[in-house]
Amino acid sequence: MTAQSPAGAPQPRRLIVVGSGIAGLYAALLAAEAGTEVVLLTKGALADSNTYFAQGGISAVLDEPAPGDTVAAHIADTLKAGAGHCNEDAVRVLCTEARLDIAGLQRFGVRFDLDEDGDPALGLEAAHSAPRILHAGGDATGAGVARALIRAVLEVQEAGRIQVIGHAQVTSVLQGGGRVSGVNFLHNGGEFGVHGDAVLLATGGAGQLFAQTTNPAVATADGLALAWRAGAAVADLEFFQFHPTCMVPPAGAREAGSTAEPLLISEAVRGEGAILVDVNGERFMPRYHPDAELAPRDVVSRCIYLHLAALGDPNGHVFLDARGLEASRGQGFLAKRFPTITAGTRAAGIDWTRELVPVAPAAHYWMGGVVTDLQGRTSVPGLLAAGEVACTGVQGANRLASNSLLEGLVFGRRAVEAFLAGSPRDTDAPRAVSGPWQFETVPAPGPVETNLATPGAFSRKALRRVMTAHAGVIRDGALLREASVALGAWAAGVVPLHAPDSLEAREHEDANLLLAAQLLVHAAQERRESLGAHHRSDSRTRAAAVEPFDQRYTMSRKASLVHD
Ligand code: SIN
Repeated sequence: MTAQSPAGAPQPRRLIVVGSGIAGLYAALLAAEAGTEVVLLTKGALADSNTYFAQGGISAVLDEPAPGDTVAAHIADTLKAGAGHCNEDAVRVLCTEARLDIAGLQRFGVRFDLDEDGDPALGLEAAHSAPRILHAGGDATGAGVARALIRAVLEVQEAGRIQVIGHAQVTSVLQGGGRVSGVNFLHNGGEFGVHGDAVLLATGGAGQLFAQTTNPAVATADGLALAWRAGAAVADLEFFQFHPTCMVPPAGAREAGSTAEPLLISEAVRGEGAILVDVNGERFMPRYHPDAELAPRDVVSRCIYLHLAALGDPNGHVFLDARGLEASRGQGFLAKRFPTITAGTRAAGIDWTRELVPVAPAAHYWMGGVVTDLQGRTSVPGLLAAGEVACTGVQGANRLASNSLLEGLVFGRRAVEAFLAGSPRDTDAPRAVSGPWQFETVPAPGPVETNLATPGAFSRKALRRVMTAHAGVIRDGALLREASVALGAWAAGVVPLHAPDSLEAREHEDANLLLAAQLLVHAAQERRESLGAHHRSDSRTRAAAVEPFDQRYTMSRKASLVHD
């Protein structure tokens, strides 16, 4: 519906986009291109997003048939990695429409790396049956994508079609007349409101829930909390993916009090042939899974965890050995193909062409989130969501490598298409969008034996410790109960159910994190069986999860394509 101005000129409809990762930037550009007035709010600078740190790339089958690859194979790999828990319709949309949005990115100035023939250079990553990962700047894909999209957004802002408001912490979603009508946000020490015809949440994830994470400081579950408080359905929150290879600062650096940011060692490094070894120099992955280092991410993280426990060092680390790549591909290969990791390891005092890199699993990606349909519509009319904050079901119980930037693109565009479809009702959710449970159903915790009965005062550090120790790579009923008690005790002070009455952004983030932690722990308690990234050591499927690992999810790899 188009409103009329007093002079009779049609007023463009307004879309409010919250978040400046790939989903938010791309959606803002598409909406502005279609004549929509766009207000883009981001809580830091435009580059402060998970997208910016993505290394590996974006998976896509660019042609059909592609040499040695098919969309059907991409679909099958995504479903397998997702442990049978994916929404197959969403996966089909994701893989089929990928090439459309890769072209969209290129239109906005994104350039991917090319091979010697001038064709896109395609990498292989774990659990992909063929090389299909587009990358930029070697291992700086996210930065390359984000920079190009930010440049395009700033140009459109210059032309007056997007208004960017940086350092804006959204505090609540406004509703009126049965639908979303805008947001409130903190900015420059004050609280403001902005009205619009729909709000698209593209706020990313929540890695800050855990002690070790690959995510930047901005990943504090804001969108999930905003949506939940607005009454939106959420789902699959028990599925939080831990990336197997986050660099652990070497002991010397730790002792010297290094506060260096965690460094992700991309899946693509194992895709190129690097292996994992333990403290004894032994390669251990083949003992656990036939796909060894190229097994799905949840499997590799769990194997590392179990292997360390078997070695009697559950809080220790293993090593990534990439030395063979330099030997087999020639001197300078690692620096050329992985410049970001080369610089990061060097800054930590490691020459990875000659030395092992200490690595351990770290919280990386939340498969669950705000329930949406295939057009990004949540269960609250006028509230859209896309990217990591959303749960289309496309990632199932464990996301396939390099499918996250792709999800932000494909479903960010689809959300804009729903918005553009004409009537405000087109951003209304169909009745079918509903979550399996609501937070109000959380049972009051009963008395439990716990060493966390008095968890001490709330702090982020304490919250992260509890989540890591009790709801991390491996959980069980008792650990989750203890976590629930600790979170419940903190909730009396931090009160996550309502947005704090505070002008301090950090207080809002704290409340959001605590709410997200409670929701995650509740979901993990409810799912008593292990599935994908949700692994319960008290599950009846435990034996299958240890040896042999679930054979259903091994790859049917096209051997001729691997390491081509
Ligand atoms: C990586 O490069 O390993 C991370 C990419 C992703 O999360 O898919």
